[in-house]
Amino acid sequence: MKVPFLGDTLEYMRSPVDWARDRYDRFGPVSTVPMFAVRMTVALGPDATEEVLLNRDKAFSNGGGWERFIGPFFHRGLLLLDFDEHLHHRRIMQQAFLPARLGAYRERMTPAVARELASWPVSARFEAYPAVREMIFNLTSEVLTGSGLGAEADEVNRLFEACLRASTGAVRFRFPGLSWSRGLAARRRLETIFGAWVAERRAAGGPADNLLSMLCAAATDDGDRFTAQDVVNHMILLLLAARDTSTIALSTIMYYLARHPEWQQRCREDGSALELVRKEALRLAPPLPHLVRRVVRPTSVLGHPLAVGSYVQTIPQFNHHMHELWTNPMAFDPMRFSEERAEDKVHRYAWLPFGGGVHKCIGMHFAGMVVDAVMRELLERFEWSVEAGYEIPWNRRGLPFPADGLPVRLTSRHRSHGIAPAH
Ligand code: HEM
Repeated sequence: MKVPFLGDTLEYMRSPVDWARDRYDRFGPVSTVPMFAVRMTVALGPDATEEVLLNRDKAFSNGGGWERFIGPFFHRGLLLLDFDEHLHHRRIMQQAFLPARLGAYRERMTPAVARELASWPVSARFEAYPAVREMIFNLTSEVLTGSGLGAEADEVNRLFEACLRASTGAVRFRFPGLSWSRGLAARRRLETIFGAWVAERRAAGGPADNLLSMLCAAATDDGDRFTAQDVVNHMILLLLAARDTSTIALSTIMYYLARHPEWQQRCREDGSALELVRKEALRLAPPLPHLVRRVVRPTSVLGHPLAVGSYVQTIPQFNHHMHELWTNPMAFDPMRFSEERAEDKVHRYAWLPFGGGVHKCIGMHFAGMVVDAVMRELLERFEWSVEAGYEIPWNRRGLPFPADGLPVRLTSRHRSHGIAPAH
């Protein structure tokens, strides 16, 4: 049964791939359906995805699309800027993501990874997802904002959570005490805290081994720099863009390696196997399963006209599961990414966990660095498994995450630690 206002939302959230497959078979790659309380045109498959993401006639707005879903809490972050202004900001931000910078972030992160994982208790029932989330929050706080923030770092985490809860909550209007108003208040407080940090960093300089200092200092060859308010806006969006995506990616890799112990062992022995597994996990469970845009000038996708003001959604997760593109797409098979098989090369928009076009993830290599640093240490310290037949029950309100916390049996590879009894 459909709830009129929500349209197909619940069916979609239950199983995005099955829902999209049904539409694709019945209506083809482009069709319009009421969902998420708007009339949504869904652009399915690699050709339709390519037209939307390449956005050749600048008809699709990112800001207009995402603002509807994540609210005003991440206002003027890079993801929400459009066209020339977006390009201008992206050129400056790019300076903070150059390979040499990533090396500095990696150096800062490596000892922190060991410290974080040393606190994981071996256990017959260890909830991996909340532990990964906490670890990623700590690691990214360190690399995004620099150390020495102490109690303020905790406050930033709390405020950020309030923004996140408000942006994914069901209640979407301002009323004292409700999550939307709490989110707006949290955003204001975040602006004050980050504003003070920016002033401090700009006055005193400091080591360029964290993103905040880098954004304060970043300048293009033409001398363009961010204003203090720009840095604040970008930092708040970066927290959103970096943390939950990396947490989901890592949790999913852990899940597949738990279900496939032969791959777990292979990754321990051969670093290149980990790369194949990372790609396969991002194919099966992309942290951003769909991308949304709003039409700002009359246009069409594969010949289907779209009206100004309407919304368009591409679903990378569907492309990742199309039997037209992949052999046995539901199966975990990292070798499909090997040079010999290279199934992802069949179409540029067959595999796109980081999106495509001008808004393609600017933190893609940063994310690779985080995942790599954590997985290597994890594989060295621990072995983990799940019960036979276990499958993640995904919660798809907001970004997808394991509703049960992803319980694993975690054992130490170093004999001195015993297994604690299950609680
Ligand atoms: C596995 C982890 C990650 C995944 C799967 C991921 C995925 C994506 C995707 C699909 C987009 C495009 C959104 C769109 O077109 O509407 C995007 C954009 C973005 N990502 Fe990531 N991301 C990850 C990690 C990160 C990290 C670690 C950072 C920063 C340190 C980051 C920063 C950004 C930013 C700033 C944008 C907006 C880019 C723009 O609009 O020009 N992401 N990400």
